[in-house]
Amino acid sequence: MAEPLLSIRKISKRFGGLVAVNEVSCDIYPGEVVGLLGDNGAGKSTLIKCISGVYHADEGDIYFQGRRSHFPRPIDARRQGIETIYQDLALANNLDVSANIFLGREVKKRYLGGFIRMLDEAHMLQESRAALEALEIHFPNLRLPIESLSGGQRQAVAIARAIYWDAKLMIMDEPTNNLGVPEQHKVLELIRKLRDQGVPVILITHTLPDAFAVSDRLIVMHRGRKVTEKRTAETHTQELVQYMVGALDDTRAR
Ligand SMILES: Nc1ncnc2c1ncn2[C@@H]1O[C@H](COP(=O)(O)OP(=O)(O)OP(=O)(O)O)[C@@H](O)[C@H]1O
Ligand SMILES: [Mg+2]
Repeated sequence: MAEPLLSIRKISKRFGGLVAVNEVSCDIYPGEVVGLLGDNGAGKSTLIKCISGVYHADEGDIYFQGRRSHFPRPIDARRQGIETIYQDLALANNLDVSANIFLGREVKKRYLGGFIRMLDEAHMLQESRAALEALEIHFPNLRLPIESLSGGQRQAVAIARAIYWDAKLMIMDEPTNNLGVPEQHKVLELIRKLRDQGVPVILITHTLPDAFAVSDRLIVMHRGRKVTEKRTAETHTQELVQYMVGALDDTRAR
């Protein structure tokens, strides 16, 4: 058995009196897609934000690539190879595609003996075009601001960015929400592509058919707790729904 890429141990996160995430543990292995399921408010987004450095867990430990890790800010997690696409997408709407792919990691060129450093836009544009084409994502114009793109195209830019920067772990929070059907398929196809490249994906979704289509394993949360973890091949929709509404709970049975 391979070593897990990510291990979380008894992570808890509170907001005032509310326990949004309650002692959740799990392991994520290279090259697997893990669906993270649960009803509204189950704690899914809060959990992944604890992993990606948006929030800091009140309790528990995170091990990434075998080392105990703490990411003070999201950029620290990104620099270690954890790319996250949030429910409220983390792209800069007023910037173009290329600027978004290089967001926070801009390439600069030196002028006048190195005294002046300016953005190397030609290089970033060329690299962005190559990154998108490698994924068979076609944009007529990479200089268009993100706000003029469709939801699916935005997801594609975020995924291209993750691949370009050699993501080791991809976390996606409801990536197919508000997308048209062809765009949903494109996103699922890109998730499979990531997996085939050995990059594990944590996929939060309310769309059970999507979860069944791409996940190798499924984790269900209910009211902040992890209530079960199943191989996708060993469960079915009805059973998962029972876990999602709290009628079934593996931790209670023990
Ligand atoms: N910043 C915050 N401040 C206070 N409470 C919060 C905050 N973020 C989340 N919560 C609460 O924590 C709980 C878990 O929320 P979370 O967003 O993690 O759920 P979720 O599983 O992602 O739900 P959804 O499927 O609706 O996105 C909810 O009760 C929510 O109201
Ligand atoms: Mg959420």
